[in-house]
Amino acid sequence: MHYLDHAATTDLRPEAAEEWLRVARQTGNASSTHGAGQRARRILEESRERLAAALECDPIEVVLTSGGTESVNLAVQGLWRSRLSGRGSIVLPDGEHHATLDTVAALAGEGAQVVPVALDAVGRIPADAFAARLASNGVALATALVANNEIGTVNDAAALAASATSARVPLHLDAVAAFGHLPLSFAALRGDAPAGVGLVALSIAGHKIGAPTGTGALVVARTARLAPLQHGGGQQRGLRSGTQDVAGAAAFALAAELAVAERAAEAVRLGALRDRLVAGIRERVPSAELLGDPDPAGRLPGNAHLLFPGAPSESLLFLLDVAGVSASAGSACQAGIAEPSHVVQALGRSQVEARSVIRFTLGRTSSDADVDAVLAAIGDAYERTSGGAR
Ligand SMILES: Cc1ncc(COP(=O)(O)O)c(C=O)c1O
Repeated sequence: MHYLDHAATTDLRPEAAEEWLRVARQTGNASSTHGAGQRARRILEESRERLAAALECDPIEVVLTSGGTESVNLAVQGLWRSRLSGRGSIVLPDGEHHATLDTVAALAGEGAQVVPVALDAVGRIPADAFAARLASNGVALATALVANNEIGTVNDAAALAASATSARVPLHLDAVAAFGHLPLSFAALRGDAPAGVGLVALSIAGHKIGAPTGTGALVVARTARLAPLQHGGGQQRGLRSGTQDVAGAAAFALAAELAVAERAAEAVRLGALRDRLVAGIRERVPSAELLGDPDPAGRLPGNAHLLFPGAPSESLLFLLDVAGVSASAGSACQAGIAEPSHVVQALGRSQVEARSVIRFTLGRTSSDADVDAVLAAIGDAYERTSGGAR
């Protein structure tokens, strides 16, 4: 099997699996005061420290969650609900992940006004348009992707965070697709922003970097005003009550350390594989078009997102699957029905085009053989699904 869907989820790192089992075998609730509880607590807090080092933030700022969706919900709903007035607008760029889009839509149902920001032709959030929206009156919060999970375009997170600081607006960054692939420093992005504004929250997910599914974190600045979504024992600064997953935290911390340590070398290796993949596909299917930023420096190293004119994504994916290649359309798939990608449409493309895309994403276990498998299958698959065109 040739797995080219690492952006959906990536292989569990063997070291993280071992660490998870080792810690999970030890009994103890990290909130208990006896010896077993204290041992669990020590492992938990050491894991938090290691995650904080990987993210360049304070350990107390790391709120462990169950993954990206929970982190995004806690950030966006939490920031909104902490507003005493219960009024205001949310700055929401086009092309965000559904975790964000649907959370904001739910808040719109409760009275939030949504202020969109159109993407540019390569899918980047224009920093000046974002800043202009933030500078308008009554903005309660803003949210943005560090890198787009579908088309791989990298945003200028530093500029977005700086504009939140100058507009005195709290900003959440969704770094789920970026963490482990791009340099990321919460402290540097937050800078010397005043209390409660500028970058105040940043989401990451464990299963995107080789930690177990069900692990994640929201970095919450010490001074952020955030209302919890769940109530109970008051764990994690009262922001996320509930018995903490010590084994998950330990495995997540180890995976994060390894991902950060390997990041620079992996970016070079995956970038080269990705470039060979794109060049090879375009040789075999000259009409295929790379979406997102054509400049390798402006896209995630392992992301190749292509439009195959006239070929429905599902049919192409089916034929690739038959050839042993797992890829995705990069769009939300509900009840088995592939929706046309809202990200592709945010680039100004038609619905038909948004149904004719494939996202190939590479990761830690990707090799030349995976690229070769795609190149061996793509020409024939395209010919059969596009009615003979190339
Ligand atoms: C950018 C981005 N945000 C949020 C999520 C949701 O994360 P999770 O699947 O861990 O809930 C994803 C998952 O694909 C993502 O890519």
